[in-house]
Amino acid sequence: MRRIFSSKEIVLGVTGSIAAYKACEIASRLVEYGARVTPVLTASAVQLVGPATFEALTGNRAITRLFDPIQNPDIEHIAVATRAHLFLIAPATANILARAAHGLADDWLTTTLLATRAPVLFAPAMNANMYAHPATQANIATLRERGCHFVGPAAGRLACGAVGVGRMIDPATVVEAAAPLVSARRELAGRHVLITSGSNREPIDPVRFIGNRSSGRMGRALAFEALVRGARVTVVTGPADVAPPYGAEVVGIETAREMAEAVQSRLEHADIVIGAAAVADYRVESAASAKIKKSGAPVTLTLTENPDIIADAAARRRPGQVVVGFAAETERLLDHACEKLERKKLDLVVANAVGEEDSGFGSDTVRAAFVAPGRRIEELSVLTKAELAARLFDRIAELM
Ligand SMILES: Cc1cc2nc3c(=O)[nH]c(=O)nc-3n(C[C@H](O)[C@H](O)[C@H](O)COP(=O)(O)O)c2cc1C
Repeated sequence: MRRIFSSKEIVLGVTGSIAAYKACEIASRLVEYGARVTPVLTASAVQLVGPATFEALTGNRAITRLFDPIQNPDIEHIAVATRAHLFLIAPATANILARAAHGLADDWLTTTLLATRAPVLFAPAMNANMYAHPATQANIATLRERGCHFVGPAAGRLACGAVGVGRMIDPATVVEAAAPLVSARRELAGRHVLITSGSNREPIDPVRFIGNRSSGRMGRALAFEALVRGARVTVVTGPADVAPPYGAEVVGIETAREMAEAVQSRLEHADIVIGAAAVADYRVESAASAKIKKSGAPVTLTLTENPDIIADAAARRRPGQVVVGFAAETERLLDHACEKLERKKLDLVVANAVGEEDSGFGSDTVRAAFVAPGRRIEELSVLTKAELAARLFDRIAELM
């Protein structure tokens, strides 16, 4: 995140929603990631949260009135509008959506929204009826049409006690949705990246399954990196500890055969296919239809091989498509990776050591190497999964 937000100028518009306090966490995260944040509070927001909190969190003066900033040219509205990389309005009330949609300029925030050419991201927060109201929906449609971006709202219990769609999406996700909008790298714009992620569950009976330890962290890091480089991203994921990033299309599956089907039906439109899932090599030949009861005797399961998803994708590869596999190995890492690359006819294999403290399932770091045809091997130092994802897309760019 630091790589993406460092030195970016972000105007954080806070409006008069009960969720205004959550904007403190957004400000704090953006500052942590190196952004320079200018907090702007509407008159209603000031009734709910204190400008001093935002000043303490960002180290910058909070703008609350249109005419005050004239004293300070740094926060004069045209100056800020010009230098901002992003306007993030979180939480966004029904009122700010209406004012922005109609081009009103009756306070600092709306005036500056008209003056800026930076991307604008709204994180709506309001009562479910207010959100569903045709006026609000029409305002959102107008803003979208003009190129504004939206994150959320989510469904759940609202501050007013009602349950429905209207909760501001959580601060971490708001920041995640902002990342592609400030990213300097857009080389995958117009490209579609298809990623498999997570584990598989192969049923033994209706309550038991054979699974594996994949956490989904590598797939998540890859999807996020592709998004910040401008790609459209589809993640076909089995059960995982972490969800794919905001902005990715998510296809949830359980078994390897379901994953194979989901990938096959999306292959045609993908420019880059990356197999980061820990696909179950075997399934139980005939899963029991009722729960297997203890009988005192040993139970034998006959396993049968599952389809090879990434080899199949490589075999159907159309010209220009790049297909990358992952080889998670506990021994003879590079030999196994080279063999996998050749047998499956992949463009690249990311060989990663599993079962070690600083590398493998569930770990945030990984010891990996890139293996290309002709046994060309690039060994990498211990990297975070985010760093490995960035290095991989740099390498893929060379292949495209
Ligand atoms: C305690 C309280 C909580 C509110 N929460 C919301 C909210 O979550 N969403 C919303 O659209 N309006 C909410 N409102 C109403 C807005 O504050 C009101 O429409 C105001 O005009 C918004 O102004 P602004 O968009 O300029 O900040 C709330 C009002 C009060 C008194």
